[in-house]
Amino acid sequence: MVYIKTKKEIDFIRDSCRIVAETLRLVANNICPGVETIELDRIAEEYIFSNNAKAAFKGYSQAGSYDYPASICVSIDDEVVHGIPGDRVLKEGEIVSIDIGVLKNGYFGDAALSVAVGKISSDKQKLLDVTEKSLYEGIKEARLGNRVHDISFAVQNYVEANGFAIVKDLCGHGIGKFLHEEPAVPNYGVRGTGPKLKKGMTIAIEPMVNTGTYKVKTAKDGWTVLTQDGLPSAHFEHTILVSNGSPEILTVC
Ligand code: MF3
Ligand code: CO
Repeated sequence: MVYIKTKKEIDFIRDSCRIVAETLRLVANNICPGVETIELDRIAEEYIFSNNAKAAFKGYSQAGSYDYPASICVSIDDEVVHGIPGDRVLKEGEIVSIDIGVLKNGYFGDAALSVAVGKISSDKQKLLDVTEKSLYEGIKEARLGNRVHDISFAVQNYVEANGFAIVKDLCGHGIGKFLHEEPAVPNYGVRGTGPKLKKGMTIAIEPMVNTGTYKVKTAKDGWTVLTQDGLPSAHFEHTILVSNGSPEILTVC
């Protein structure tokens, strides 16, 4: 069941998404060599609480693992997504993906971005640029008359044309009353297929892009997703609203 949101619901989702975007910006501004990743978690949690909202990922349950223990995900280099903040210290030359979800008034918002820690290699910079651009290529397709896999195809096509690999084991999702709703929004697929996009749908589009193989594995901690070859990965995500004309990006501030 794909939910079409009412105006009132969209306003709640919009508010949660604004808090997500503001928190992401705050965390990104605090990324530099020497910072412990748990410190980023604290900064995010405090800001989310100060907005009378909750961190959506904390306590989230996933089949086969214990509940997610932190407020945000911090994934470094070969960590694709779902890295758990802890005592690891950020080092110059790393890339770090921050993923944040917020729940307020019963509605969710979700977004992610990847940033450089100090100066990074040109290969890593290209990975960041291609991943971010692939998200916008996908968003462009999120309009009336299109289908979900038009988004998927656009993301995959852009990523592969630029020599990178798209992760296939994880995908984007509808979002609203639940963090994960239908439809699933894969980052690869065949144009013109999948559910029809309708006005009032809110979806999170989130390409995860690898430098080498598209294949991933789960770390011993039960959460962190890693590239199988140990090469770096990046992740960008926005929650968007399908509307008349161009989609509206909700996770902006
Ligand atoms: N943006 C990710 C997702 O949509 C974040 C989930 S983290 C988790 O799946 F801890 F909640 F799983
Ligand atoms: Co998401």
